Amino acid sequence: AGVFTYDPGFTSTASCDSSITYIDGEEGILLHRGYPIGDLAEKSHFLEVCYLLLYGELPTAAQMEDFECRVTNHTMVHEQMHRFFTGFRRDAHPMAIMVGVVGAMSAFYHDSIDINDPWQREVATIRLIAKMPTLAAMAYKYTIGQPFVYPRNDLDYAANFLRMCFSVPAEEYEVNPILSRAMDRIFTLHADHEQNASTSTVRLASSSGANPFACIAAGIACLWGPAHGGANQACLEMLREIGTVDRIPEFIARAKDKNDPFRLMGFGHRVYKNFDPRAKVMKQSADEVLELLGVENNPTLQVAKELEKAALADPYFAEKKLFPNVDFYSGIILEAMGFPTSMFTPIFALSRTIGWISQWKEMIEDPAMKIGRPRQLYTGANAREYRNVEDRG
Ligand code: CMC
Repeated sequence: AGVFTYDPGFTSTASCDSSITYIDGEEGILLHRGYPIGDLAEKSHFLEVCYLLLYGELPTAAQMEDFECRVTNHTMVHEQMHRFFTGFRRDAHPMAIMVGVVGAMSAFYHDSIDINDPWQREVATIRLIAKMPTLAAMAYKYTIGQPFVYPRNDLDYAANFLRMCFSVPAEEYEVNPILSRAMDRIFTLHADHEQNASTSTVRLASSSGANPFACIAAGIACLWGPAHGGANQACLEMLREIGTVDRIPEFIARAKDKNDPFRLMGFGHRVYKNFDPRAKVMKQSADEVLELLGVENNPTLQVAKELEKAALADPYFAEKKLFPNVDFYSGIILEAMGFPTSMFTPIFALSRTIGWISQWKEMIEDPAMKIGRPRQLYTGANAREYRNVEDRG
């Protein structure tokens, strides 16, 4: 027995202290190590943001060069890991593959699983940042039946990922710099978001001393759900299902109907009650990419734009402070780039890995770290006597 604070869904419980990411949900502010997300998305690039999240400061030119060199040194995955991929059904969801192969890294990189050794922790961190694009691209290639494409270290992080996804042996493939910039921005906008469900999962799993690859696999599993990272796939599928602008009122009515479990995917956020600052940048990026690709009249985008307008004008969404979130526009960009919806959440996972691993590093380096062990309010039966099967009924 004991007295516990009851807070289902952790709506008002701080699980840790952290100096990485700050969110003011009322004002729509998101800062990484003090830098506004808008500035980082506009002026910085993903690997620089990785450095910032991990080490607390923006790198000097020499530090950046060294960091990039360490990352590119680890972009290949062990050749034997190819067999892990081929063990999956060819129509496996890439997220199912990601949960498996990232967890399996613990069995391949024995020299970076001792969490008490700072050098091993650093190597595990760099390995995860470096290998996630390779693994995500391999998951994609496997599910579409194309050969794996090895990383190219002369390309930047985003361009290399696009090339590993879209190049085929028989053809030359040039990465369009505007698309790789848009890809990089998607990575940056998803890099960290303080104690969300998957990050809390990584922290809780790590608090027992489990190895970082296993813990990141736990984060990927949590991210997969449609209320979290899976929302980007669900959102695009919803926009397609709506199909034409005239059907929007029907779907808005469904979202408002308490007897219908349907929700507008890509809308609402536990913390943001004003707007999601990431969605603003994403929307602008979507316009740029679609214009570049000459698909501004894409019907899905038209539905998205009209749905956003209709929802924002509706008192239900205004009262409940439901605004488009980061997932609302990212799917449109990814679809325009040629990704199938099943790749949306793996791309979120590869972007969020830096947030997970930075939070992990902060936690492990804290001498006050304790195993996470929530309590409960027990609502079951009192102690009772066991009855043999013949005496039940
Ligand atoms: N459509 C319709 N109604 C909604 C929606 C929505 N998308 N989101 C919340 N509501 C209503 C909900 O029915 C509830 O109404 P009432 O108070 O009358 O019961 C009220 O708004 C509060 O909702 P909640 O579920 O208690 O809020 P929460 O903080 O637990 O959930 C959320 C936040 C993001 C899970 C939720 O808004 C949601 O399900 N959104 C759709 C999924 C989505 O887009 N998720 C991505 C989140 S951002 C990226 C990420 O985290 O990965």
